[in-house]
Amino acid sequence: MKIPSRSHVHMLSYLVVLLLLPLLASSADPDPLQDFCVADKSANSISVNGFPCKPASKVSSDDFFFDGLTKVGDTSNIFGSIVTGGNVDNFPALNTLGISMNRVDFAPGGLNPPHSHPRATESGVVIDGQVLVGFVTTGNVYHSKVLNAGQMFVIPRGLVHFQKNVGVGKAFIITAFNSQLPGAVVLPFTLFASTPSIPDDVLTRAFQVEEKVVEFIKSKFSS
Ligand code: GLV
Ligand code: MN
Repeated sequence: MKIPSRSHVHMLSYLVVLLLLPLLASSADPDPLQDFCVADKSANSISVNGFPCKPASKVSSDDFFFDGLTKVGDTSNIFGSIVTGGNVDNFPALNTLGISMNRVDFAPGGLNPPHSHPRATESGVVIDGQVLVGFVTTGNVYHSKVLNAGQMFVIPRGLVHFQKNVGVGKAFIITAFNSQLPGAVVLPFTLFASTPSIPDDVLTRAFQVEEKVVEFIKSKFSS
Protein backbone atom coordinates (compact mmCIF):
# COMPACT_ATOMS: atom_id res chain seq x y z
CA MET A 1 0.00 0.00 0.00
CA LYS A 2 1.24 3.47 -0.89
CA ILE A 3 1.79 5.66 2.17
CA PRO A 4 0.34 9.17 1.58
CA SER A 5 2.96 11.87 1.66
CA ARG A 6 2.98 14.54 4.37
CA SER A 7 1.73 17.17 1.88
CA HIS A 8 -1.20 14.90 0.90
CA VAL A 9 -2.21 14.49 4.53
CA HIS A 10 -1.91 18.24 4.98
CA MET A 11 -4.11 18.89 1.91
CA LEU A 12 -6.67 16.33 3.10
CA SER A 13 -7.03 17.92 6.55
CA TYR A 14 -7.36 21.32 4.86
CA LEU A 15 -10.22 19.96 2.70
CA VAL A 16 -11.99 18.42 5.73
CA VAL A 17 -11.82 21.77 7.56
CA LEU A 18 -13.18 23.58 4.47
CA LEU A 19 -16.07 21.13 4.20
CA LEU A 20 -16.93 21.51 7.88
CA LEU A 21 -16.75 25.31 7.82
CA PRO A 22 -20.45 25.92 6.96
CA LEU A 23 -21.47 23.67 9.85
CA LEU A 24 -19.17 25.47 12.27
CA ALA A 25 -20.41 28.88 11.09
CA SER A 26 -24.15 28.21 11.71
CA SER A 27 -24.13 29.23 15.36
CA ALA A 28 -27.63 30.73 15.83
CA ASP A 29 -31.16 29.31 15.47
CA PRO A 30 -31.81 27.59 12.11
CA ASP A 31 -33.36 29.59 9.26
CA PRO A 32 -37.17 29.46 8.90
CA LEU A 33 -38.67 27.43 6.05
CA GLN A 34 -41.76 29.64 5.70
CA ASP A 35 -42.79 33.33 6.22
CA PHE A 36 -43.92 32.67 9.75
CA CYS A 37 -44.84 29.90 12.11
CA VAL A 38 -46.72 31.50 15.00
CA ALA A 39 -46.28 28.98 17.80
CA ASP A 40 -49.33 26.93 18.66
CA LYS A 41 -48.81 26.58 22.39
CA SER A 42 -51.91 24.44 22.74
CA ALA A 43 -50.37 21.59 20.79
CA ASN A 44 -48.39 20.51 23.83
CA SER A 45 -48.69 16.83 23.06
CA ILE A 46 -46.22 17.21 20.18
CA SER A 47 -42.58 17.77 21.00
CA VAL A 48 -40.44 19.40 18.29
CA ASN A 49 -37.30 21.53 18.13
CA GLY A 50 -39.29 24.77 18.59
CA PHE A 51 -43.09 24.74 18.41
CA PRO A 52 -45.61 23.59 15.80
CA CYS A 53 -47.24 26.39 13.75
CA LYS A 54 -50.75 27.75 14.27
CA PRO A 55 -52.75 27.22 11.07
CA ALA A 56 -52.23 30.38 8.91
CA SER A 57 -56.03 30.85 8.78
CA LYS A 58 -56.03 31.38 12.57
CA VAL A 59 -53.16 33.94 12.55
CA SER A 60 -54.10 37.63 12.92
CA SER A 61 -52.17 40.94 13.02
CA ASP A 62 -52.24 40.84 16.80
CA ASP A 63 -49.99 37.79 16.74
CA PHE A 64 -47.11 39.94 15.43
CA PHE A 65 -47.16 42.62 18.15
CA PHE A 66 -46.15 42.36 21.79
CA ASP A 67 -46.38 45.04 24.44
CA GLY A 68 -44.76 43.05 27.25
CA LEU A 69 -41.63 45.21 27.21
CA THR A 70 -43.51 48.47 27.81
CA LYS A 71 -44.10 47.67 31.46
CA VAL A 72 -41.62 48.60 34.19
CA GLY A 73 -40.63 45.37 35.96
CA ASP A 74 -40.93 44.92 39.73
CA THR A 75 -37.35 45.03 41.07
CA SER A 76 -38.22 44.26 44.70
CA ASN A 77 -36.17 41.07 45.02
CA ILE A 78 -32.75 40.19 46.47
CA PHE A 79 -30.88 41.36 43.36
CA GLY A 80 -32.80 44.61 42.76
CA SER A 81 -33.31 43.77 39.08
CA ILE A 82 -35.83 41.96 36.94
CA VAL A 83 -35.72 40.54 33.42
CA THR A 84 -38.91 40.71 31.35
CA GLY A 85 -38.68 38.33 28.41
CA GLY A 86 -39.90 38.95 24.90
CA ASN A 87 -39.12 35.46 23.63
CA VAL A 88 -41.13 32.67 22.02
CA ASP A 89 -42.55 31.68 25.41
CA ASN A 90 -44.63 34.86 25.64
CA PHE A 91 -44.45 36.15 22.04
CA PRO A 92 -45.26 33.05 19.95
CA ALA A 93 -44.75 34.86 16.58
CA LEU A 94 -40.99 34.62 17.22
CA ASN A 95 -41.17 30.87 16.67
CA THR A 96 -38.62 29.80 13.98
CA LEU A 97 -37.43 33.42 13.43
CA GLY A 98 -34.25 33.15 15.47
CA ILE A 99 -34.54 36.39 17.46
CA SER A 100 -35.89 37.67 20.78
CA MET A 101 -35.53 40.59 23.20
CA ASN A 102 -35.58 41.29 26.93
CA ARG A 103 -36.18 44.31 29.06
CA VAL A 104 -34.11 44.51 32.24
CA ASP A 105 -35.11 46.95 34.99
CA PHE A 106 -32.79 47.90 37.84
CA ALA A 107 -33.44 49.54 41.19
CA PRO A 108 -30.63 51.88 42.29
CA GLY A 109 -27.61 49.60 42.85
CA GLY A 110 -29.51 46.66 41.34
CA LEU A 111 -27.60 43.76 39.76
CA ASN A 112 -28.57 41.40 36.96
CA PRO A 113 -26.42 38.59 38.40
CA PRO A 114 -23.71 36.73 36.46
CA HIS A 115 -25.34 34.45 33.90
CA SER A 116 -24.86 33.10 30.39
CA HIS A 117 -27.08 32.28 27.41
CA PRO A 118 -26.24 28.87 25.95
CA ARG A 119 -28.05 29.49 22.66
CA ALA A 120 -27.36 33.13 21.75
CA THR A 121 -25.14 36.15 21.50
CA GLU A 122 -26.66 39.14 23.32
CA SER A 123 -26.56 42.76 22.30
CA GLY A 124 -28.09 45.51 24.37
CA VAL A 125 -28.64 49.21 24.72
CA VAL A 126 -29.04 51.32 27.84
CA ILE A 127 -32.35 53.17 27.60
CA ASP A 128 -32.21 54.97 30.91
CA GLY A 129 -29.61 55.35 33.66
CA GLN A 130 -25.98 54.35 33.98
CA VAL A 131 -25.06 50.69 33.86
CA LEU A 132 -21.83 48.73 34.35
CA VAL A 133 -21.75 45.87 31.85
CA GLY A 134 -19.14 43.13 32.23
CA PHE A 135 -18.30 39.71 30.84
CA VAL A 136 -15.48 37.20 31.11
CA THR A 137 -13.95 35.36 28.16
CA THR A 138 -13.10 31.66 28.10
CA GLY A 139 -9.50 32.83 28.54
CA ASN A 140 -10.63 34.39 31.85
CA VAL A 141 -10.22 38.00 30.71
CA TYR A 142 -12.75 40.42 32.19
CA HIS A 143 -14.11 43.14 29.88
CA SER A 144 -16.34 45.90 31.25
CA LYS A 145 -17.54 49.43 30.73
CA VAL A 146 -19.95 51.89 32.32
CA LEU A 147 -22.59 52.84 29.73
CA ASN A 148 -25.06 55.72 29.56
CA ALA A 149 -28.39 56.01 27.74
CA GLY A 150 -28.09 55.19 24.04
CA GLN A 151 -24.83 53.27 24.37
CA MET A 152 -24.70 49.69 23.23
CA PHE A 153 -22.85 46.49 24.18
CA VAL A 154 -22.43 42.93 22.95
CA ILE A 155 -21.90 39.73 24.90
CA PRO A 156 -20.50 36.92 22.75
CA ARG A 157 -22.54 33.72 22.87
CA GLY A 158 -22.29 31.64 26.01
CA LEU A 159 -20.01 33.97 28.00
CA VAL A 160 -20.76 34.80 31.64
CA HIS A 161 -21.89 38.42 32.00
CA PHE A 162 -23.75 40.81 34.30
CA GLN A 163 -25.14 44.34 34.41
CA LYS A 164 -25.20 46.60 37.47
CA ASN A 165 -26.95 49.90 37.92
CA VAL A 166 -24.19 52.30 38.97
CA GLY A 167 -26.16 55.52 38.45
CA VAL A 168 -28.12 57.55 40.98
CA GLY A 169 -31.69 56.54 40.07
CA LYS A 170 -33.36 53.56 38.43
CA ALA A 171 -32.07 52.17 35.12
CA PHE A 172 -33.30 49.98 32.30
CA ILE A 173 -31.83 48.30 29.27
CA ILE A 174 -33.21 46.46 26.25
CA THR A 175 -31.33 43.36 25.09
CA ALA A 176 -31.62 41.38 21.87
CA PHE A 177 -30.63 37.80 21.01
CA ASN A 178 -30.06 35.70 17.91
CA SER A 179 -32.31 32.97 19.28
CA GLN A 180 -36.06 32.73 19.85
CA LEU A 181 -35.26 31.27 23.27
CA PRO A 182 -31.67 32.04 24.35
CA GLY A 183 -31.96 30.27 27.72
CA ALA A 184 -30.22 31.60 30.82
CA VAL A 185 -27.84 29.86 33.19
CA VAL A 186 -27.99 32.15 36.24
CA LEU A 187 -24.90 31.17 38.21
CA PRO A 188 -26.09 31.79 41.81
CA PHE A 189 -29.23 29.73 41.15
CA THR A 190 -27.53 27.10 39.00
CA LEU A 191 -24.82 26.43 41.57
CA PHE A 192 -26.66 26.96 44.84
CA ALA A 193 -30.37 26.44 44.15
CA SER A 194 -30.70 23.57 41.68
CA THR A 195 -33.21 20.75 42.19
CA PRO A 196 -31.93 18.46 43.52
CA SER A 197 -29.00 20.38 44.98
CA ILE A 198 -25.40 20.02 43.88
CA PRO A 199 -23.73 18.05 46.75
CA ASP A 200 -22.00 20.28 49.32
CA ASP A 201 -18.68 18.43 48.92
CA VAL A 202 -18.62 19.38 45.22
CA LEU A 203 -19.14 23.06 46.07
CA THR A 204 -16.74 23.11 49.06
CA ARG A 205 -13.99 21.68 46.82
CA ALA A 206 -14.85 23.93 43.87
CA PHE A 207 -14.85 27.13 45.91
CA GLN A 208 -12.28 26.05 48.52
CA VAL A 209 -14.57 26.92 51.44
CA GLU A 210 -16.05 25.06 54.42
CA GLU A 211 -19.40 23.30 54.25
CA LYS A 212 -21.03 25.92 56.49
CA VAL A 213 -20.22 28.59 53.88
CA VAL A 214 -21.91 26.53 51.15
CA GLU A 215 -24.92 25.89 53.40
CA PHE A 216 -25.09 29.60 54.17
CA ILE A 217 -25.10 30.56 50.49
CA LYS A 218 -27.68 27.85 49.70
CA SER A 219 -29.91 29.22 52.48
CA LYS A 220 -29.93 32.63 50.75
CA PHE A 221 -31.61 31.10 47.70
CA SER A 222 -33.97 28.59 49.30
CA SER A 223 -37.59 29.60 48.89
C1 GLV B 1 -29.23 40.65 30.09
O1 GLV B 1 -28.12 40.22 30.32
C2 GLV B 1 -30.26 39.82 29.53
O2 GLV B 1 -30.02 38.61 29.49
O3 GLV B 1 -31.32 40.33 29.11
MN1 MN C 1 -27.86 38.20 29.48
